[in-house]
Amino acid sequence: MRLTHPYQTERLGAVRVFGLQHVFELESGAVDGDDDSALSWGTTVCHVPGPALQAVQRKMAIVVPCMNERLRLFEGVLSGIPHDCLLIFVSNSDRDPVDRFAMERDAVARFCLFNQRPGVAVHQREPDLAAAFVAAGMPELVDTSGTIHSGKGEAMILGIALARVAGAEYVGFVDADNYVPGSVAEYINAFAADFHLAQTPYSMVRINWKSKPKVVDGALQFSRFGRVSETTDRFLNLLLSHLTGFGTEAIRTGNAGEHAMSMALAVELHFATGFAVEPCELIEIFERFGGTVPEPDAIEVRVMRAGLEAFQVETLNPHFHEDKGDSHVQEMRQVALAGIHNLASCSPRLRDEIERELRHDGIEDLDTALAPIKTYPPLSVLDWESFASELSRCSTNVTQFAYPDPSTDVLTTTRR
Ligand code: GDD
Repeated sequence: MRLTHPYQTERLGAVRVFGLQHVFELESGAVDGDDDSALSWGTTVCHVPGPALQAVQRKMAIVVPCMNERLRLFEGVLSGIPHDCLLIFVSNSDRDPVDRFAMERDAVARFCLFNQRPGVAVHQREPDLAAAFVAAGMPELVDTSGTIHSGKGEAMILGIALARVAGAEYVGFVDADNYVPGSVAEYINAFAADFHLAQTPYSMVRINWKSKPKVVDGALQFSRFGRVSETTDRFLNLLLSHLTGFGTEAIRTGNAGEHAMSMALAVELHFATGFAVEPCELIEIFERFGGTVPEPDAIEVRVMRAGLEAFQVETLNPHFHEDKGDSHVQEMRQVALAGIHNLASCSPRLRDEIERELRHDGIEDLDTALAPIKTYPPLSVLDWESFASELSRCSTNVTQFAYPDPSTDVLTTTRR
């Protein structure tokens, strides 16, 4: 892949947010010369050759969260995941009267068999999985009925925990309702390209779609911004400007559902519930690692010493996905604003501006709209040994597809 060298940098303490990188070539050919000269640091273009992408993808798990999506779309998404990645499928689909999860699991089984690659499929609401989190020290993820809470953020936490047990060094997320399998491949190659370029163990790659096509008046319109991301990005940029003292438009991926993290970073974040998860990752990163905490804890000190890099890539493929209507669009807008409003470091002026924005949206009950967002402890609190042994006890609910070698345990075999 050939993409812009991440030269524009917004710095906040130890955090570096890179400006949007553009993709020039999806397939950029072999290594130029014998060594890393293919990696053209110092010029405006980076070339990350195929073998370098694969080397990262061999250490990467891709989590696909899915709730009642059309099987055809979901199957297309699977086909877009590069062969060397470990597939982790986390469903919250209905099981009654029709067991949709059983159909999804069959699709994953076929996909892994035909392509001779490993995969794992779980249902988020399976009580045994919840019990594993409780036993390993994270009861907060579990509701009163003894199952993991519903929500996309919660599915991500479960997916990261499985990826960690499987020894993945990177974990990425792609939605299951994407009409264009080729776009999935592009997102995941972009993840790998930037992890290859990363210079710290704590890194994140977030995708900005070039366009999100819609049919308007009978014609295709390739709109540039989603309704949610325009607001989220504006306020995240205002927050960053307030913290650095310099105006910025650096943040372009506040709501990026398609994104990835190094495992070292993923296990230290307090992920937020549901669709608050993506903007709250950035808010937490700014707050904890941006150098404004008066007495940082040991993790914060470790991350700040090493530095944290957030890459943002504008991909070439259009993002065609299921339009689920307006129901959670408003919710997604609000959670990012609430996350910023609740920060100790948020200025009174920015708080006023957020309140004005919500009133302009017709929201009168600001206390409810701006209530603190629920977040979970970081996965690093887990006792990984007991989590893994609980998982092996409930192996009937953690379906593994062990290919090419059926005798391996996908979750414990070291990733190459
Ligand atoms: N396992 C699981 N559990 N999956 C879920 C759940 C859940 O509770 N809720 C949603 N999903 C899955 C969906 O099936 C889909 O694959 C993915 O998570 C995203 O959910 P959508 O309902 O399709 O969200 P969206 O398209 O409105 O929003 C997406 O894009 C936004 C950026 O524009 C999401 O990725 C958002 O998180 C993102 O901010």
